[in-house]
Amino acid sequence: MTTMAELTRRGIIGIVKVKHPPVNALSYGVRKGITECMKKAESDPAIQAVVLCGDGRTFPAGADISEFGGKFAEGPDLRSVLVTIENLRKPVVAAIHGTALGGGLEVALSCHYRLMHTTARTGFPEVALGILPAATGTQRFPRVTHLANAIEMITSGRHITAKEAHSKGIVDKLVSGDIIQEGVTFANDIASKPYRHLMVSTKPVIGAENAQQIFDEARKRLASRAVGGPIAPMMCLKAIEGAVKMPTFEKGIQHEADLMYLLMTSGQARAQQYAFFAERAVSKWELPDGATNSRNTKPKAVKTAAVIGAGTMGTGIAMTLLSRGIPTILIEQDQKFLDRGVAAIGKLIAYQVNKKRISNEQAQKLHTLLKPSLHYADLKDVDIVIEAVFENMDIKKTVFRKMDALCKPSAILASNTSNLNIDEMATVTKRPGSVIGMHFFAPANVMRLLENIRGRQTSGETIATVMDLSKRIGKVGVLVGNCYGFVGNRMLHMYGAEASFLIEEGCLPHEVDQCIKVFGFPMGFFQVADLSGLDIGYKARKGLGLIGKGLPERFRFGQRYSPISDIMVENGRLGQKSGKGYYNYGKIGGRVPERDPETEELILNFCKKHNIQRRRIAPQEVMERCLYPLINEGFKILQEKIATKDEEIDTIWMTGYGWPRHTGGPMYYARNFVGLPKIYERLLYYKAQFPDSKHWEPCELLRKEAMQQAKL
Ligand code: CAA
Repeated sequence: MTTMAELTRRGIIGIVKVKHPPVNALSYGVRKGITECMKKAESDPAIQAVVLCGDGRTFPAGADISEFGGKFAEGPDLRSVLVTIENLRKPVVAAIHGTALGGGLEVALSCHYRLMHTTARTGFPEVALGILPAATGTQRFPRVTHLANAIEMITSGRHITAKEAHSKGIVDKLVSGDIIQEGVTFANDIASKPYRHLMVSTKPVIGAENAQQIFDEARKRLASRAVGGPIAPMMCLKAIEGAVKMPTFEKGIQHEADLMYLLMTSGQARAQQYAFFAERAVSKWELPDGATNSRNTKPKAVKTAAVIGAGTMGTGIAMTLLSRGIPTILIEQDQKFLDRGVAAIGKLIAYQVNKKRISNEQAQKLHTLLKPSLHYADLKDVDIVIEAVFENMDIKKTVFRKMDALCKPSAILASNTSNLNIDEMATVTKRPGSVIGMHFFAPANVMRLLENIRGRQTSGETIATVMDLSKRIGKVGVLVGNCYGFVGNRMLHMYGAEASFLIEEGCLPHEVDQCIKVFGFPMGFFQVADLSGLDIGYKARKGLGLIGKGLPERFRFGQRYSPISDIMVENGRLGQKSGKGYYNYGKIGGRVPERDPETEELILNFCKKHNIQRRRIAPQEVMERCLYPLINEGFKILQEKIATKDEEIDTIWMTGYGWPRHTGGPMYYARNFVGLPKIYERLLYYKAQFPDSKHWEPCELLRKEAMQQAKL
């Protein structure tokens, strides 16, 4: 193992630089390197003070997550590195640039002084990985910043700016020049001053006098989110409590270590760490042929863009592009709709200013980057056009014909569609290689997921460009194949179908939703349906011929069908937009769902009409029936190579549909929490119960893998 830190000297100052690209994660080699360099600096009589910094883009961004869960190397663990630094007989200055996160911040807290570049950020993101800052972070942090700040930051995982870090007492000084030179200048200044009183471990907890009240309030806040949620936030709080309640710093550290062990062995931490890497793995895309992939395909430059359609999706997409500095033309056919779209973008910009996320000057810049237009001819020079017109194939084809005729030959033509066939759109163009789907999720300027759909003829270059653009505009781009509903909505249809059957058979909407929330989704199926608008699915089903005169009410296209959602729409219950759907919202656009006796009567009348004997359905059945067909569909998607790996499906569900990260997404959950043999057996059980629903037929890939797992 090579040593991943080096010691150099500038005059009387030793510089210990961590060298482990890309983020200087605190792997074994780094821990060993820092320890050795510190010891050398200590024994070098020419060195009077030490600057600790990171090479390249950042100060250490945390522990090496890939070392968790097994291959913990021998040699110095992070805690002993911190002891070496803190006990050094010479002052150590942390010179922070980039992102000092988790273990990186813990390293900085073991130094005697902390300098931070004004552009740097810091925080304890461990909670998002299902763990706690276990290299003394929960014990040291409330000794440099107020207990209430420490609790808020550690339990939320929030990253903060240098300015906030300074105001909270986490760093001593902000600097804006070259970070190493600034560190050396500072170190020269303090080289001869006494520093041992600056050892954080010897300081009292700040705010300890009000600890009881602070902990009570924090516990209450966390408990309100605890049902179905991850356990890490509460464990972080318990560990911080140790800083106040344990008689010594060392006892506090032991308490922290015990809680960390509990988290590490809970299963949730593994799932959350998997989620971290899954989100990064999806950017390494590969076509099913294996020959075309992100490693061998270069993206084209995207300097300008256009969005066609100034509705909710179009304006959200335009806002996303503008926010990343991409000049964007917004096209509408009608002045009234264009004005409405521009006003909507104006509101989104003003919201950012009000929230202090951008300055007035930045807001002004966004306005100047936006070019509203009524003329398709203005598309002639843009590098990419994303159409976001009404979800109807004939309309989409008309728009694609125009885009193809007017855009320069190298331009990419993209469709923001949630279900429709990309290949069919490509047929009306002379450049099928440049046609691709970009399925944004509403609200498009907020949601991180972007499902990019490759058509049969989409070129590698088009895919590389759109995947690269996804990252640039702050999205998690996931490449998927072309089929009805793609990955996310295709799986959602299975879940939706079963949720609807459950309310026909005996559940009420809030009962199904409660089970889903206990599992960890932020909202239940029916709440989400009301939020999205029930009319959207209604129109899509009509387009597919699933709604129309003469169809049997409960059986369509050869299988069981639930018309409850259609009945809702036909009774004017469209969801939040009409003030009532499965729930009552009190007013049009209301957001707080209340149980609605009218909905419940509607369901009961439906059951009476069809002689359905309602029954009490156990939560376990609700969960299995909502989740297992969705998982089965995920395996079919893999089998058909619509997705090429589990990570793509899991990332889509965690970033776009609220699947709880502490269970790692549907595929990870199926494999690691439930086990494929159990899923397979339950699919067969429900298939026998409901032979008229095809989605209970286990997929061949799932069957095979279940058999293999059962043999292990
Ligand atoms: N360990 C291992 N690998 C890491 C890593 C880490 N802590 N942080 C980033 N990486 C890897 C990524 O997987 C990625 O690898 P590939 O290129 O092979 O995909 C590469 O470094 C670059 O990362 P990003 O693509 O995420 O780069 P970015 O510039 O978009 O973001 C970042 C940089 C903000 C540092 C981001 O990577 C990040 O948030 N990293 C995790 C930070 C973290 O959670 N730290 C706490 C770790 S736990 C801990 O420290 C516990 C403790 O108390 C000891």
